[in-house]
Amino acid sequence: MLAERITLVLQGRVPLAEQIYRQIRDLARHGRLPSGMALPSSRALAGQLGVSRNTVSAAYDLLRAEDLVITRPGAVAVLNIPATFALTDRRVQTVGRPVSLAPAGHALSAPLPATVEGARLRPGRPDPRLFPRDAWARALRRAGRTLSGDALLYGDSHGLAALRRVLARTLAETRGLHVDPEHLLILPTVRAGLGLLARCLCADGDSVWLEEPGYPGAMQAFGTLRRVALPVDGNGADVSAMPQGAPRLIYVTPSHQYPTGTRMSLSRRLALVARARECGALVVEDDYDSEFLWSGRPVPALGALAEAGEVATLGTVAKSLLPGLRLAWLAAPPHLAPALIRAQTSLG
Ligand SMILES: Cc1ncc(COP(=O)(O)O)c(C=O)c1O
Repeated sequence: MLAERITLVLQGRVPLAEQIYRQIRDLARHGRLPSGMALPSSRALAGQLGVSRNTVSAAYDLLRAEDLVITRPGAVAVLNIPATFALTDRRVQTVGRPVSLAPAGHALSAPLPATVEGARLRPGRPDPRLFPRDAWARALRRAGRTLSGDALLYGDSHGLAALRRVLARTLAETRGLHVDPEHLLILPTVRAGLGLLARCLCADGDSVWLEEPGYPGAMQAFGTLRRVALPVDGNGADVSAMPQGAPRLIYVTPSHQYPTGTRMSLSRRLALVARARECGALVVEDDYDSEFLWSGRPVPALGALAEAGEVATLGTVAKSLLPGLRLAWLAAPPHLAPALIRAQTSLG
């Protein structure tokens, strides 16, 4: 009898009709109720389960909405279980292999080197105890009350216009980077920016030059691109050590090389931008912790030296506030910004 195979939790959070529906559905899914079986009338099942008739009718309606039950006028409700719906043991064994990862999926999901994931001493982590929680909570509350219009709808998928305006001002003041707020993309992380650039600017087989030693997170974000080591010394990354090659992207950390901490010299910066121009590459500047200096004065971002859109600059609050805020940005070259913004919209 069907009622004997249904167990209801009376005070549970799941409504009774939903419980009945789910259990009949599960029984059918596991091949324990045959297709074509006549269901008891809602009155009969309600009586056996000790619930109201409306409850059982509602459960039957849910099954009917999913086409698992058919009712003809004047006839009893009958289970309608497609053969491919039932997960019989035999079917589980003969079902084809599940979809597997493509090369890009393997590259993006490869574990980070143990030195990064397992290390006890991990560089670049801010102290969460210093986070200004109260000020942040006040700002969130205010924003929750006052944000309106487009900000609550689809709005600008490249970030709140007010945030981009403030950021553009801050980048001009602190990084010497003059960027139109319309060319700024707000992103969750620096790696999201690298992924977007790789996806939009590179084709299979293209190469990216990455500092060696360098940031493992960046290596991974570039997925299946051909990664070529760019040597680093006390003056930062050195393109003169790369007599050949035409990369699409050159990823560098000029203000604070990761992990050596070196600042790239002016002559190296100029050589890098010139080389990028020459070979049609985009320099991807990761300005991830330029707010911090052991000594001396900050120098402008590398992007400030670009003349014709050779540099895209990425920044983040991961070091100055918290990585958990997931707040980073990309100052895109003007000629690429509209397409990158539309691509970000497409990728959601
Ligand atoms: C060189 C470098 N860039 C960027 C970041 C931040 O990256 P993301 O925003 O992708 O977490 C880090 C974090 O440690 C880093 O070391």
